[in-house]
Amino acid sequence: MAPSDDAPALAAVRPAGDARLLARYRAVRAASQALAAPLSPEDQLAQSMADASPTKWHLAHTAWFFETFVLIPNLEGYQAFDPAFRYLFNSYYEAIGERHPRPARGLLTRPSAAEVAAYRAHVDEAMGRLLAGPVAREVGDLVVLGLAHEEQHQELILMDILHLFSLSPLRPAYASDAPVAKPSARPAEFVAVAGGRVKLGAGEGGFAFDNERPRHDALLAPYRLASRLVTSGEWLEFMEDGGYGRHEFWHADGWTRVKAEGWRAPLYWSWDEAAGRWQTLTLRGPAPVDPDAPVVHVSFYEAAAYAAWAGARLPTEGEWEHAVGAGAERFEQVHDAAWQWTASAYSPHPGFAAAAGAVGEYNAKFMVGQMVLKGGACVTPTGHSRAAYRNFYYPHQRWMFAGLRLARDDAGPSAGESFAADVVAGLSAARKSLPAKWFYDARGSRLFEEVCELAEYYPTRQETALLKRIAPEIAAHIPAGAALIELGSGTSLKTRIMLDAAPQIAAYIPIDISGSALAAAAKAIRQDYPRLAVTPLERDFTVVRELADAAEGRPRVGFFPGSTIGNFAPDEAVELLGRLRGLLGEGGGFIVGVDLAKDPATLVAAYDDAAGVTAAFNRNLLARINRELSGDFDPGAFAHRALWNAAEGRMEMHLKALTDHTARAAGRAFGFVAGETIHTENSYKFTPARFADLARRAGWRVDGQWVSPAPEFAIFLLSSA
Ligand SMILES: C[S@@+](CC[C@H](N)C(=O)[O-])C[C@H]1O[C@@H](n2cnc3c(N)ncnc32)[C@H](O)[C@@H]1O
Repeated sequence: MAPSDDAPALAAVRPAGDARLLARYRAVRAASQALAAPLSPEDQLAQSMADASPTKWHLAHTAWFFETFVLIPNLEGYQAFDPAFRYLFNSYYEAIGERHPRPARGLLTRPSAAEVAAYRAHVDEAMGRLLAGPVAREVGDLVVLGLAHEEQHQELILMDILHLFSLSPLRPAYASDAPVAKPSARPAEFVAVAGGRVKLGAGEGGFAFDNERPRHDALLAPYRLASRLVTSGEWLEFMEDGGYGRHEFWHADGWTRVKAEGWRAPLYWSWDEAAGRWQTLTLRGPAPVDPDAPVVHVSFYEAAAYAAWAGARLPTEGEWEHAVGAGAERFEQVHDAAWQWTASAYSPHPGFAAAAGAVGEYNAKFMVGQMVLKGGACVTPTGHSRAAYRNFYYPHQRWMFAGLRLARDDAGPSAGESFAADVVAGLSAARKSLPAKWFYDARGSRLFEEVCELAEYYPTRQETALLKRIAPEIAAHIPAGAALIELGSGTSLKTRIMLDAAPQIAAYIPIDISGSALAAAAKAIRQDYPRLAVTPLERDFTVVRELADAAEGRPRVGFFPGSTIGNFAPDEAVELLGRLRGLLGEGGGFIVGVDLAKDPATLVAAYDDAAGVTAAFNRNLLARINRELSGDFDPGAFAHRALWNAAEGRMEMHLKALTDHTARAAGRAFGFVAGETIHTENSYKFTPARFADLARRAGWRVDGQWVSPAPEFAIFLLSSA
């Protein structure tokens, strides 16, 4: 079809021209020129590989796009700048005709850079005339498409020049203030997203590429999406753990590629022998790899292998789009750091129809064999991308600014929803309370680690010392090939004591509701115990009914340190211990850490330390509600309270409202009167006899019990009676 056949009917005409569109046109065109400004004519001519194009070609092709699709069909009397350019600067449009072969674009010494500049000026002058007069809506839409197209080439100019410079022994800098991917400002966490039946794709209003449409329904299981991108520091850990040399993390095609290309680091990374560190090439020139900045220039194969190594996965395109569309403020580095690989193949959305005419070739014909990337990069023009935007590359390509954001399946039926449900139920009750298990988001888990280091917080110290002493005795009860199943594993630090004492343990299944703590701990254990099969389960251990395949056919030993059992009231504890007996099976063993009752002053100090770490841990629950449930709690409007409830035999933590006020979360309002508290934790303290009684009521036999010196902490060894 000749381009003139695409000429839209001049039906809906903007009568007085479109000054705003013209202003935008000029700004975008000027931005392309500005990108070329730091480059010499020689820089602008060279082509570093078939996938990349010379700057001069980008500048000419983007003018060609306007000339071919907008001016020739729609501006009466328009004279093409040079008829030969139709062939030279056609990228891939079969409908327009033959074209100069892509890999030979770098051989186009003619036209010169100056002639290309004159070509652009010729097109700009004509576009100025066109947009000054009445413009049909369809023509306006083509201009907007041409501008989005030109912005894509602006990014390509920077990607391609970086690749070109990477092949120069001089390793030149493009510009000292060129864009680079910046580190994230906030700690990482896995944000829970409920999923369900959701709408994806671009709606009808506003500009979007045809491949983003139509808007359609999709079904998403609950999942978690990382709040930031994977960093270079994390990537270094993958490398140091032999990530590029371990086939178990790679797709077959990826593994073949790793070996064929000899990949052992992201593109542009090189080992600086003199400095003893990795360095990379950025648009600002060579620089040491910044461990806090997002990793860039990795292929899909590498991204997927990293995710497998990290015990996570890449998000699907739909998961990414839904999470960011529903709450972009919960995520960092969305559009301004690196494109993010997804697990989704680039294929049409349900109901997709390619745009009419030659521009229908823009996207549709590439919908095979490539993977979708979402977001945007530091080299992407500001405002160019959006949640529905679909970038796409072949899985082996690395020269674009591509990184990754991890995802995970969510715990249980829907942890996100049950957090919301628990908050609404707990704060609507006459006596407000929240379950203690919600303390442990990424920040909460870190604060708990700090609590464990405090002088006042004796339980961790006492339990660890006791466990070290008795581990050999306990180990004698653990059968060969056993699976160790840990409830509320946190950092898995105490686990190491058991693993060291009982090398016959063959599998480890840590279960924790805190995804971030679990992933980090599983990774560390895998690294230090390479022969152990580690299968983390991000679940609420009170509802787990089945263990991973790794436990199949193995004797099972439960491990429940930290006196987390104390969070449960006695009847609940019996119920839980009974359920866990079922989970661990006949002949199973169970190691349980239990804090013992003692003088209230010692107890209260342990839960109300002088440095205020426990207070911060307690208040973080409100910050978590704000983060995950769109709340507006002021954590400073609540005081931390720790008290000994002698009648119940438990330590209690509360958050006490300091003023009358109302706070909102999960779409609900909750009134507080001054002095009212939210009860956030119970920690029952036992006597050895009392705990043994609970265990027996749950069907366990007590095979051993050990008590530490004061402040006393006990460890029980139970077996199925
Ligand atoms: C007090 S910490 C103990 C951590 C570690 N076991 C230790 O002894 O240091 C409690 C841990 O249990 C997890 N946890 C609490 N309630 C849970 C539940 N219902 N299901 C799964 N994990 C839970 C928390 O996320 C946290 O990592």
